[in-house]
Amino acid sequence: MTLKFLVLSSLALLTNAHMAAFHKAMYCFNGTASGQVNYNNDDPVSPLWMLKKSDYWFHHVNQCDDFPPAPGDFLELPAGSSFTVEVAANRGVTSLSFNGQFATDWGDGGNHPNDYSVANLAGAPLSSSGCIGNPNMHTQNQSMAAGTAFAISYQSDISQVTMDNLAVFTVRYNTPWKRVTSYDVPKDMPACPADGCTCAWVWIPNGCGEPNIYMQGFKCMVTGATSTTPIATPKPPVWCEEDQSTCTQGAKQILIWNQAEGNNIAVSGFDLSGNPKSPAYNSKCGFQDGEGFHALVAIGNVVSDTSPQEHRMTSLVHRPLPPQRLQQLLHHPHLLPPRPHQLLDRLHQLWRHRLLHHPHHLLHHLLHHLLHHT
Ligand SMILES: *[C@@H]1O[C@H](CO)[C@@H](O)[C@H](O)[C@H]1NC(C)=O
Ligand SMILES: *[C@@H]1O[C@H](CO)[C@@H](O)[C@H](O)[C@H]1NC(C)=O
Repeated sequence: MTLKFLVLSSLALLTNAHMAAFHKAMYCFNGTASGQVNYNNDDPVSPLWMLKKSDYWFHHVNQCDDFPPAPGDFLELPAGSSFTVEVAANRGVTSLSFNGQFATDWGDGGNHPNDYSVANLAGAPLSSSGCIGNPNMHTQNQSMAAGTAFAISYQSDISQVTMDNLAVFTVRYNTPWKRVTSYDVPKDMPACPADGCTCAWVWIPNGCGEPNIYMQGFKCMVTGATSTTPIATPKPPVWCEEDQSTCTQGAKQILIWNQAEGNNIAVSGFDLSGNPKSPAYNSKCGFQDGEGFHALVAIGNVVSDTSPQEHRMTSLVHRPLPPQRLQQLLHHPHLLPPRPHQLLDRLHQLWRHRLLHHPHHLLHHLLHHLLHHT
């Protein structure tokens, strides 16, 4: 039997599969059978619904958390930069099996249009709930994809990770989508203990089937850390789509929803688009796209959201600009003022208005500025 046959026969079973983030530092990388390597591993992809905490926590329902990554394998989180995982339905269609020969742009090893959607399936099937079926991303199209996130605990031992020491630090809106997915790392992430940190990939789809949650573990470590401020005790997120001022500020817990115990969010009724409310790693529950700027600015026991550095910078503010003008600057950096003080002021205003979600935006603006004004 060839490897190809093994892969194809396993792909035939993918129709009911869901998604996980694959990386060699994940728990149950080789599957959940002791001493065996399952190159077509899909053990971490199954959704979690109405389970006891002991079962949903790090996907213990099939013992995934009992199979740590090989010693020395860590998901590296470069402070102020980004890291990449492969979001797929099966390890067989990632670069981590069969030399990547079955990997495509998509998490099912198939080829789909760039603007893949229920209106542009190009021959792929619909799921039973009328959404994209392959891969089973629980969405109608990219814009409806609910968002996925990573959380971190500064505990090396997975058994010591609790809701109170596991904080969401990065969110990617409109995912799961393509296989290769990157997440930004806040620059203020402190270093992990010598044996590393424990991370979790989490996802709650927006409808398209049973209202499940997803959670799987990784061994991770922050590289290039300069901050030594520990992360704050995370607080439960709340539904705040209608009024962003009511969102939980600062470090947030992962969302536990529709489980038999330990839920930290409950919703009823409909969201602003008229669909049943589904908590998610997006603005509906106060999560920003990109790095958890919010989460890590409000670290430690900082009570004010203005750091001493901000106080110093505030003195540079000349004139608050209206939001439209800030948006304009964001998209037309050549309009940034040439004088350093004014430039700093504009960048600071963009930052305060949370318009600079990604540090590379800031870099981009600065480089552009330097090229054109020096
Ligand atoms: C997974 O299997 C490979 C052999 O293919 C081995 O090198 C690696 O250490 C295994 N990882 C774990 C976590 O068991
Ligand atoms: C995505 O799907 C939603 C729900 O079906 C729909 O309302 C929206 O118009 C679609 N967006 C695009 C860009 O196709």
